[in-house]
Amino acid sequence: MIRAAELIQRKRDGAELAPEEIGELILGYARGEVPDYQLAAFCMAVYFRGLSPRETYALTDAMIRSGDTIDLGGALGRKVVDKHSTGGVGDKTSLAVGPIVAACGVPFGKMSGRGLGHTGGTLDKLESIPGFRIELTLDEFVSQVRDVGLAIIGQTAELVPADKALYGLRDVTATVDQLSLIAASIMSKKIAAGAQAIVLDVKVGDGAFMKTLDDARRLAEAMLSLGEQAGRQVVCLLTDMEQPLGAAVGNALEVREARATVRGEGPPDFTQLVHDACLRLLTLSDLGIDEAEARRRVAEAVASGAAEATWCRWLEAQGGTADEDVLERAPVVRTVESPREGVVTRLGAIAVGNAALHLGAGRQTKSDTIDHAVGVVCLRKRGDGVERGETLAEVHARDDASAAEAVDAVLAAYELGDTPPPERRILIEVVS
Ligand code: URA
Repeated sequence: MIRAAELIQRKRDGAELAPEEIGELILGYARGEVPDYQLAAFCMAVYFRGLSPRETYALTDAMIRSGDTIDLGGALGRKVVDKHSTGGVGDKTSLAVGPIVAACGVPFGKMSGRGLGHTGGTLDKLESIPGFRIELTLDEFVSQVRDVGLAIIGQTAELVPADKALYGLRDVTATVDQLSLIAASIMSKKIAAGAQAIVLDVKVGDGAFMKTLDDARRLAEAMLSLGEQAGRQVVCLLTDMEQPLGAAVGNALEVREARATVRGEGPPDFTQLVHDACLRLLTLSDLGIDEAEARRRVAEAVASGAAEATWCRWLEAQGGTADEDVLERAPVVRTVESPREGVVTRLGAIAVGNAALHLGAGRQTKSDTIDHAVGVVCLRKRGDGVERGETLAEVHARDDASAAEAVDAVLAAYELGDTPPPERRILIEVVS
């Protein structure tokens, strides 16, 4: 008999639970013996009380034990690297990183998640590609990484099922942005999926779960510690999420932008982040190269077209088509015009993320379906000059009413001034 109510009460009152108690609750939840409402209450207690490092490791370990683990490196006979982001607005980094890294000869096999709150998920983006299969068997996954160099799939039902269930529950109970829950969720998946070296993109700012650099550092350190305890190499990139990443926010729109970036035509901030992540993955890989050589190989894979060719092979291997015209387009496109001449001093990531969410690009409840065509394209970003009446952004909507609402919301996300704001680099800090 699981003492769920007692454990929730003790956590609520600030006690530290024993590793076996955390295991009992989480494994009980994964078996369906603890209902959603009790786990939701537990998550809320954790939200306010936090978890100690010992509890966080126990949670990570219990989630890993709730399902299978994979030895991808053993199956491929190569050192496998992985990358993960804590989630942001317009964050399509994995879609562009995968093909570039694979084109450089480093196997990239990744299990991704769905959107949470105002942030999009890689799987939702991939599902905007007609025919694309996010559910491969583990055998298919391993073969595709071996043959194509690249596969991105959904978490299989067998891998960390407790996190899969918890992730959806946290999304709709306002318990996503809790440091220990995020660290355990990410690291349980990364450890179970078997990569020996992991690059973690920890987002910082308005549109991220971590709003301050201090919180982002604490999350990075928590994940480094969980990785170390499991014997993995971890590098964390702390990156800017004060404004949306790149221009596109919304599923099919982001797939187009990721592809443009793979062929060297992406927005500057997104391109820089993608290249930074790729070169770290290459230096951690078994290629045995330094950062300067990794940078050179990444630039070469993009410039030669090898990365885009890998993109096409990847999509086709997973049932999609490389033809960009099959991506759905929203029937209504409206521009957001600048009310004055000046310079963009701020572009609120969360406001743009929420505008895209309300257009239908994300989920507000666990069972919501996503409209892959809709979203926002931010054509002007922080520091850009603009004339009165010039286009700041585009809204891609299903109908006129939702478009009108989104135009107002996106306009409110822009702050315009007379002098440029201080420069913020996309890569703020590296923690390793
Ligand atoms: N990404 C994850 O995988 N888990 C979280 O909890 C938050 C972001």
